[in-house]
Amino acid sequence: MDFDLVVRNGTVVTASDIWESCDIGVKDGTIVAVGPGLPAAPGAQEIDAEGAFITPGGVDAHVHLSQFYEATVGVDIDRSIITNGIVPDPENFVGDTFDTGTRSAIAGGTTTIITFASQMKKDESIIAVIEDYHKLAKDQSYCDYAFHVIITNPTPQIVEDEFPRMVDEYGITSVKLYMTYKPLKLLDYQILDVMYSARKLGITTMVHAENADVIDWMTQHLEQKLMTHPYHHGTSRPPIVEAEATNRVICLAELMDTPILLVHISGGPATKHIRDAQTRLLPIYGETCPQYMFLLADSMRKGDFEGAKCICSPPIREDKSDQDAIWAGVKNGTFTIVSSDHAPRKFNHPNGKQRGLKDGNLPYGKFRLVPNGLPGVETRVPLLFSGGVLSERISPQKFVEVTSTNPAKLYGLKKKGSIAPGFDADLVIWYSQTKFQPFKLTNEMLHHAVDYTPFEGIEFKNWPRYTIIRGKVVFSHGEVVGELNYGHYIRREQGLLPGPRDIWLSEWRP
Ligand code: URP
Ligand code: ZN
Ligand code: ZN
Ligand code: ZN
Repeated sequence: MDFDLVVRNGTVVTASDIWESCDIGVKDGTIVAVGPGLPAAPGAQEIDAEGAFITPGGVDAHVHLSQFYEATVGVDIDRSIITNGIVPDPENFVGDTFDTGTRSAIAGGTTTIITFASQMKKDESIIAVIEDYHKLAKDQSYCDYAFHVIITNPTPQIVEDEFPRMVDEYGITSVKLYMTYKPLKLLDYQILDVMYSARKLGITTMVHAENADVIDWMTQHLEQKLMTHPYHHGTSRPPIVEAEATNRVICLAELMDTPILLVHISGGPATKHIRDAQTRLLPIYGETCPQYMFLLADSMRKGDFEGAKCICSPPIREDKSDQDAIWAGVKNGTFTIVSSDHAPRKFNHPNGKQRGLKDGNLPYGKFRLVPNGLPGVETRVPLLFSGGVLSERISPQKFVEVTSTNPAKLYGLKKKGSIAPGFDADLVIWYSQTKFQPFKLTNEMLHHAVDYTPFEGIEFKNWPRYTIIRGKVVFSHGEVVGELNYGHYIRREQGLLPGPRDIWLSEWRP
C-alpha cells in the first residue's frame, strides 16, 4: 500500500474502543488505514510506538491568545495595539501570542485549538475583529486553529447582518458571551438577542456564567474589611454565584430553544443545574478545566501575593466536595468537554511589578486588580492522561472523548477528534509505560511565554513522546520540531450534537 507514514505497534484509543498491536497508515496527511500488520510501504516514514498508547491529537476548545486580560478587572482595553502581532508596550501585554501559545499546545499533545476573536471596543464590527485576528494568526501557528467570536455588544447590525457573514464567509459557528466582567458582560435582554440569532443560524452559544452584581457587591464589602489578599478572590464569589447565573442562562436558553455550552464550570451546584437540564433533554452542554479537577483554593493562599498566580474566574474552589462533583460530572457525561481556558499573564512584569500589584496597595495587594486567568494549554492533555487515565480515575476512552472527540463534534471540526480512515492524522504517541520515569513538573519544562505554571510540582506519569499533525511530527522527545507557519485555519461546520427541539414555553414563536 501507498503510505507516507506508518505508525506501528501502538495501543490505539478512540472514544469507543482500544486496539492493541495496531498500526496506523497515513497518506497526504489523512489516516487511510488502521489495523494490525499493515503492509510495508517502501519509502514511507516508520515510527515504532513500542506498544504505547496512541490517542487522537488534543482539541482545546477554549484558548485565549493575544487577548487583554485587563478587561477582566474592569479596564477598557484597546486590542488594536497588538494588531499584526506587534506589541509596542510589553507592560500592557504579557500573555501568549499565537507563536508561543501554539508552540506550548503541540508540546503538550494538542493539535488543534479554538481561540477567541474578541470584540473589545463596544463600537467595533465583529468582521473587523475576525480580520484582525486572522492577521495575528497568519503564519504564526504551530498547530491547526479555528476561532470563536467573543461578543460584548450585540447590536442589531451585528446579530442580524454580521452573524450570518461570520458563519458563511469565515466558518465560525460559535460565539462566547459573558455574564460577568464590567466591560464585557451582557444584560439578559442582550443575551436573548444573541440566542435569537444564534438559533436561526445554527450557532452554539458559549456562556461564562457568574453573577456580576453579586461579585461587585461582595468585592466592595470585602475591601471595607481589608480582606483583599488574593485568596479572597474566592471569598467574593462562592459557588452559588456561578450556580445562580448558570441556572438563569439555562432558563433563557430553554425559553429561546437554543443550545448553549456553559464554559469552565468550577463548582458542584452549577454542575447540578446542568445535569438537571440534561435530564430534561435540553441541549445544554458543560465544559470544565484541569484547574478545577486538580487544584484547590489553598493555591491562592500562598505568600503575601504569590496566590495571585492562581486567580482565575470562576475561582478554584475551596471544598473538596466541589472538586469531587467536577470529577463525577466528567465521568457521567455532564461535562461534554475538558478545555484549558488558557489565559496566561506573566507574574513578574518587565516593569518590576507583579501581576496586578499596584503602587500604594495594601500589603497583600488587591485581588480586584489581578487580571483573571491561568496558563494551561500545554498541561491539559498530559494532566488528564496522567492524573485521569493512569491514576485510574477515568478510562482511556473517556479521556479521548472529553479532550478530543467531543470538542471536535460540538464545534463542527469534521476531520478532527478520532483515529479512523478519513480523519486528519493528528496523533499523540505516548511513552511506553515501562520506559517512562515519572517526574515533577517545573515551569522551565514548558513552552509558553509566562513565568509560572499553577501545576508546578505535580507528578506526571507520562507525557507525549510524539505529537503529529496531518502526518507530520511537530514535537518529538521533548523538543518542538514543527514549523511556525504549519498550522492551518479551519473553517467549521455546524456542531454535530443535538440542537433546538422546537419545544416552546408560551405561544410565542421566533
Ligand atoms: O479567569 C479567566 N477565566 N480568564 C479568562 C477569561 C475568561 O473568563 O474566560
Ligand atoms: Zn470565561
Ligand atoms: Zn476563557
Ligand atoms: Zn523544548
